[in-house]
Amino acid sequence: MARETWATRVGFILAAVGSAVGLGNIWRFPWVTAENGGSAFLLVYLVVVVAVGVPGLLGEFVIGRRAGRNPVGALRSLSGSRAWGVVGALSVVTGLALLSFYSVVGGWILRYFVDSVAGVVGSQPAYFADPGAHFGAIAFGPEAVGYHLAFLLLTAIIVLAGVRRGIEVGTMVMMPAVVLLLAALAVWASTRPGAGGGYAFLLRFDLDTVVRNLPSVLGPAAGQALFTLSVGAGTMITYASYLGEDRSLPFDATVIATLNTGVGVLAGLVVFPLLFSLGVDPGGIEAGEGALFVGLAGAFAQIPGGTLVAAGLFAVVTLAALSSSISMLEIPVSFVVDEFDVPRRRAVAGIFALVAVSGTVTALRPSIFGFVAGTLVDVLLTTGLIAFLLFVGWVLGREALAEYESGAGALARRVGPAWLLAAGGALPLFLSFSLLTSLGLQAQLGFWGTVAAAVAVAAAAFAGLRRPESMV
Ligand code: PHE
Repeated sequence: MARETWATRVGFILAAVGSAVGLGNIWRFPWVTAENGGSAFLLVYLVVVVAVGVPGLLGEFVIGRRAGRNPVGALRSLSGSRAWGVVGALSVVTGLALLSFYSVVGGWILRYFVDSVAGVVGSQPAYFADPGAHFGAIAFGPEAVGYHLAFLLLTAIIVLAGVRRGIEVGTMVMMPAVVLLLAALAVWASTRPGAGGGYAFLLRFDLDTVVRNLPSVLGPAAGQALFTLSVGAGTMITYASYLGEDRSLPFDATVIATLNTGVGVLAGLVVFPLLFSLGVDPGGIEAGEGALFVGLAGAFAQIPGGTLVAAGLFAVVTLAALSSSISMLEIPVSFVVDEFDVPRRRAVAGIFALVAVSGTVTALRPSIFGFVAGTLVDVLLTTGLIAFLLFVGWVLGREALAEYESGAGALARRVGPAWLLAAGGALPLFLSFSLLTSLGLQAQLGFWGTVAAAVAVAAAAFAGLRRPESMV
């Protein structure tokens, strides 16, 4: 069967934005920003998005469009080396790992949405009374498994319908809905008394904290940038592999990164004014991101019509999460379909069964959940992106530049050589540094020790690259 392609010009962009915009923006971004020095962190994060995220996105786009294959087949066919296929298989692992925890969080959100809707028509949702205790009671256990399966099923249904009729149509409906609902919530939040405190908290410019903590802030900033842009997993290789025509990849990458950051800021403009207007102290909520929804759910309990607003908010988050989870599922699905010539239906069913089980484990064991959602995903994404960039810089080389240039405008063409140079050198080096930080080694090695170790890691990766067969 001929491989599918996107049906429309905006289809690819919306699908990629849909992948990028997700829990990373709404659940994590406002929190990480507020915690690390407000808008001063935002500045560092933006630099990382522009300097690492966008070039990384471009690297994946170039690989995907050039090969027209899933990450495994792409790296193998473009290099002519089986060893690179094994490196590409990392993407399949990453997709499965991501989905195993994301589907559990998606399940929580789905549950809050269902409870809110039930609350609109019936009695108050259970989470109103004691949000913290309620969340603690439902987060892990048999019910969490049930909602994880429900969320995964929704994901699978969209992916089952295919690239055009499923992913493209789905994101074309979901993305505008997310932005409109979020904007409406932001406007409404601004009318709440005391909202100003929220803006001050989010947008305060605490340069001191950032400068003092710069070495340790770089790691979280890079981790957040990769996760939120869906870079390093092979998702963007997969999506770009369905590109038929010659579009400007640099233009698309810039649009995607801009929209993604915009939605993150928009989410912050909903979350913090609301928390402040309701007297919930964001600094007082323990455990960061996970508890943010506890805070919001509690806040909604205090306002008239709160259930309705809650239903709106959780609807947004459910849609945003779904448009990301489908992109995670599509990685292993495209791999199985391309490489084993299995019908999409069977591929989706098989991988659904696999993640149903792995997600059940994370939904039952908080410690496993924490490990997968934290360290494992950070390490997989960073390692993945290092591999993709080295591949672009050293294996594809000029070929990558040609692919980058095809369809690109004059300005983008001028930046091309610098992009290729960074992909082969500075970026993998920086990412090695951030990888070591994610592994918690910066505390032991100190800043300069970590830099030295990063040079060693990058050098080792480079040595393996000269003789790819020795890497596996
Ligand atoms: N970018 C998504 C989010 O912010 C998560 C994601 C990561 C999706 C990697 C696909 C691949 O929620």
